[in-house]
Amino acid sequence: VVLASKRVTLDNKGIGKVKNVELSPTIDNAMVERGAALFKTNCTACHKTNKRFVGPNPTGIMERRSPEWIMNMILDPKLMTEEDQCAKDLLVEFNGASMANQNLTEEQARDILEYFRTLK
Ligand code: HEC
Repeated sequence: VVLASKRVTLDNKGIGKVKNVELSPTIDNAMVERGAALFKTNCTACHKTNKRFVGPNPTGIMERRSPEWIMNMILDPKLMTEEDQCAKDLLVEFNGASMANQNLTEEQARDILEYFRTLK
């Protein structure tokens, strides 16, 4: 069985309000800068970009998860770990440590997504 954090689930958009995200072919650097700052403030207590920590390492995440799934996870981790199979399996893999809702706006979650596009 492939660990949930290694599984590729690109066809799954997750559960939540984000239904469709269009990624431009080029990276928007202003969004990346905002996203990196938001990540540093709200996420690094549990996520590191060079290793597995309290939660999964987000480096390379765009090759495993759809943009919609990632944004739904950021915006409502409780709903996702209750209703989405992949998020449920992640919760088990990470020993029931649940991701705290950081109460971000959709725009802020989109900025973090753009930052994630640079983590390869
Ligand atoms: C309190 C710790 C904590 C904080 C703070 C936190 N997370 Fe998480 N995150 C987790 C855990 C633990 C998981 C694994 C799922 C679970 O156990 O709920 C996770 C899962 C994820 C996933 C799915 C990863 C994958 O490989 O599929 C993403 C994306 C994510 N978090 C992004 C974020 C972002 C962005 C922030 C900041 C806005 C954030 N997290 C803040 C603990 C946290």
